Amino acid sequence: MRNIIIAGNWKMNKDLNEVEKFCSALALHASTHSEERVWLIVAPAFPFLKLSSQLLEGQPVGIAAQDVSAYPNGAYTGEVSAPMLRSLGLEYCIIGHSERRQYHCETNQSVRDKQLILRKNDIIPILCIGETLEQRDNGQTESVLLEQLDGCFEGVELSRGDELILAYEPVWAIGTGRTASPQQAQEAHAMIRAWFRQKYGETVANNIHILYGGSVKPDNIGELLSQPDLDGGLIGGASLQLDSWEAMVETAVKIMETRI
Ligand code: PGA
Repeated sequence: MRNIIIAGNWKMNKDLNEVEKFCSALALHASTHSEERVWLIVAPAFPFLKLSSQLLEGQPVGIAAQDVSAYPNGAYTGEVSAPMLRSLGLEYCIIGHSERRQYHCETNQSVRDKQLILRKNDIIPILCIGETLEQRDNGQTESVLLEQLDGCFEGVELSRGDELILAYEPVWAIGTGRTASPQQAQEAHAMIRAWFRQKYGETVANNIHILYGGSVKPDNIGELLSQPDLDGGLIGGASLQLDSWEAMVETAVKIMETRI
């Protein structure tokens, strides 16, 4: 039985005061939220990772970075390495987000390298894939996702399925208010899980968490999480306000109860 994961990707939002306020409030709520089967993760910007970890220490909330360098150290101005993240005690790191693919030349090859260096440093990658609107309209969704999976996992070993988290984020649904229908999302997730089954076998396919991302909000998360192959959400806009975050967590807790 896979748990549900609710992950908030804050992107380039929230300054020091806002992070402090949000994490303090989250700590209060998270301690009363005893549902162990819904895992919570937040991904603040780099400067606030340490503060967020401190404010959420002892709470059932994991902290994720939003990117990492593919290199361990050296002359890469502006980059942050996996060993640096590890030295902060970080548990998760998002890689391959479509915004990084689009604006920062991220490729499947670099996502693969980032996956490997994170795992070497005991950080769980949250690896994003997804098709553009043009690709979907041209009937290329499946081939694009398979190509991304092949590239991001070339020569990569998996044996349990908990070594990483996958996030399916159709680019046309990110920040647009346009969500994939639960059926569209389920179809893509089932296809992705089948790819893991074929490449790595039953255990990995059954254990790997596949999150959906793209305009998830309180009023659509229930239907999305009711799909059998959706194991949670990677949520941008709707994760920034405490009330919508809490509403989504509550829905996830209710859905998890029905799964047990
Ligand atoms: P969104 O972003 O929920 O604002 O669409 C999701 C993401 O990019 O991870």
